Amino acid sequence: MMNEILKIKGLKKSYGKRTVLSVKELSIEKGSVMAIIGPSGAGKSTLLRIINRLETPSAGEIVYFGDTKLTDQSGNIELQRKMTMVFQKPTLLDRSVYDNIAFGLKARKFEKVEIEKRVISALQTIGLLELKDQKARTLSGGEAQRVAFARALVLDPEIILLDEPTANLDPANVGMLEALIRKINLEKGTTVVIVTHNLLQAKRLATHVAFFYDGNLLEYGDMHRVLDDPIKDKTRDFVEGRMIY
Ligand SMILES: Nc1ncnc2c1ncn2[C@@H]1O[C@H](COP(=O)(O)OP(=O)(O)O)[C@@H](O)[C@H]1O
Ligand SMILES: [Mg+2]
Repeated sequence: MMNEILKIKGLKKSYGKRTVLSVKELSIEKGSVMAIIGPSGAGKSTLLRIINRLETPSAGEIVYFGDTKLTDQSGNIELQRKMTMVFQKPTLLDRSVYDNIAFGLKARKFEKVEIEKRVISALQTIGLLELKDQKARTLSGGEAQRVAFARALVLDPEIILLDEPTANLDPANVGMLEALIRKINLEKGTTVVIVTHNLLQAKRLATHVAFFYDGNLLEYGDMHRVLDDPIKDKTRDFVEGRMIY
């Protein structure tokens, strides 16, 4: 049987009368890389925010870690700490690179020695050890996004949620960030859920793909199955480049 880290059932999100997201069922396997694809406005970011509990669904539930107790919507810090999100635009504090990466660990009251160990290791992973004392606001876009990623890394989450993390980056930085994503997935077994409008990125990174259109999950499954042999016409239009978005 598949080892489900997330199971979404009957999920709906409406704003006023308008339903912007509807997911009958979606399972995400532990250790997988799930790419959430679809045109702009399809509900991809909404889904990610609901998974991360930044927003509450209008209906339905998400079972985390196969534990139905965790589906209740009240603030659950233990659950919150197993997930970390990285946004399209890095949101960094006006402090040093080191302090930015250490911030979450300090908030969680980690010992100073442990904080230093994790931050230095993350800085090495992202290749920015030399910049540790530099002010975050003076970083290039690519460097800033790598720091945002390192901030997530040090927390050692079980699930990392990425919302178009490379959308604003040049190809060299896209490659670097993708290598980092692959590395934590392979080395730590971290489950990755990545929203991307870049099909090639989905092909490079994903084990599974979910295609959203107009708020609906039209199909999902093994990456090659969905991208090379889609069932739905809309998915085919999208993957063959006939959909304007
Ligand atoms: N806070 C909100 N209030 C009203 N409508 C919203 C809100 N957030 C998102 N939407 C709408 O929900 C739809 C899905 O948005 P989003 O999840 O951001 O799409 P995507 O990430 O796929 O581009 C869009 O039509 C958007 O306008
Ligand atoms: Mg979005």
